[in-house]
Amino acid sequence: MGLVDANSAGYVHGGTVMKLCDEVAGLAAVRHSRCRVVTAGMDRMTFMEPIHIGELVTFTASVNAAWRTSMEVGVRVDAEQPREGGVRHTNTAYLTMVALDDEGRPAEVPPLLAESEVERRREREAQTRRRNRLAERDELQRDRSA
Ligand SMILES: CC(C)(COP(=O)(O)OP(=O)(O)OC[C@H]1O[C@@H](n2cnc3c(N)ncnc32)[C@H](O)[C@@H]1OP(=O)(O)O)[C@@H](O)C(=O)NCCC(=O)NCCS
Repeated sequence: MGLVDANSAGYVHGGTVMKLCDEVAGLAAVRHSRCRVVTAGMDRMTFMEPIHIGELVTFTASVNAAWRTSMEVGVRVDAEQPREGGVRHTNTAYLTMVALDDEGRPAEVPPLLAESEVERRREREAQTRRRNRLAERDELQRDRSA
């Protein structure tokens, strides 16, 4: 990360990290669906530790769950101080990406085959986040129309 990525505190700007998370999540979703995709939402973005200018940052994305046209992609961000070594897990993000057909309408995506225990855990947790998100939406809608 370079000087153009800095905020006024001298760390890497949170928005820069979010933008890169969005980009890698989009690529993972394109790879899974073989369609173009849009970001429907960012369900969570956690900042555990600041990232410093000069650190080498790695973004790792995985499709955690696939529904009809949407997918949850998890992104893990690791920062490495290249001279001293040592890698720190700095951020985690969960984004919902929706596949689109050539007319720009939501398109069905292939099912996800969760094989390992880690993949099955990620899928379970993605299902929980989706359930909670939809339950929150329903509760807020009920409250507004009450
Ligand atoms: C995302 C978008 C395509 C959904 O369109 P829509 O008319 O609501 O379509 P649908 O109701 O058929 O929903 C399609 C899927 O999106 C999901 N979705 C819609 N809004 C969502 C939201 N806010 N958060 C998470 N998922 C959402 C639905 O759950 C559905 O998933 P499923 O088919 O797997 O069950 C549309 O809202 C859109 O184009 N938004 C703007 C996207 C954008 O500009 N992103 C930034 C630049 S990439």
